[in-house]
Amino acid sequence: MKKDKNSRRFFIKALGVGIGTACLGMWRSMVNVQQKNTGEKTISISLNDNREVIFHEDCIIINNAQPLVFSSYCTHLGCRIQNFENGQLICPCHGSVFDLNGNPQKGPSIKPLRELEFTLNPETKTIIVNV
Ligand code: FES
Repeated sequence: MKKDKNSRRFFIKALGVGIGTACLGMWRSMVNVQQKNTGEKTISISLNDNREVIFHEDCIIINNAQPLVFSSYCTHLGCRIQNFENGQLICPCHGSVFDLNGNPQKGPSIKPLRELEFTLNPETKTIIVNV
C-alpha cells in the first residue's frame, strides 16, 4: 500500500515537472518571437542588386527608386515572410498576402507589415537599418 502511494506521488511530481517544462518552453518561444520583432540591431544592405525585393535576415527591402524596408515578420502570428510571387509578399504559415507597400491584400493578417526606418547612402547604394 505504501509503495503504491509513493509511486503515485512520484508520478504526479514527474507529471508536474513535465508540464512546467513544456509551459516554460512555450513561453520562451513566444518571447523569442517578440524579441525578433523588436530587437535592436543595425544591418547594412547593398542595393546594387537588380532584384525588386531583397530578403535579408529580419528585413524585406523593396528595391525601387524610393526604397522601403519592412520587418519580415508577419503581422498575423509572426512567421517570417520570405516569398515573393506575382508582385506580392506571401506568408508561408497561413497565407496572408501583402503588397509592396506592406499592406495586407488577403488575410488572416489585417495589419500592414511593420515599416523600418533606414538611412540610404546614395554613393554606395547601401542602406543601414535598425531592426
Ligand atoms: S503568421 Fe502569417 S498568415 Fe499567419
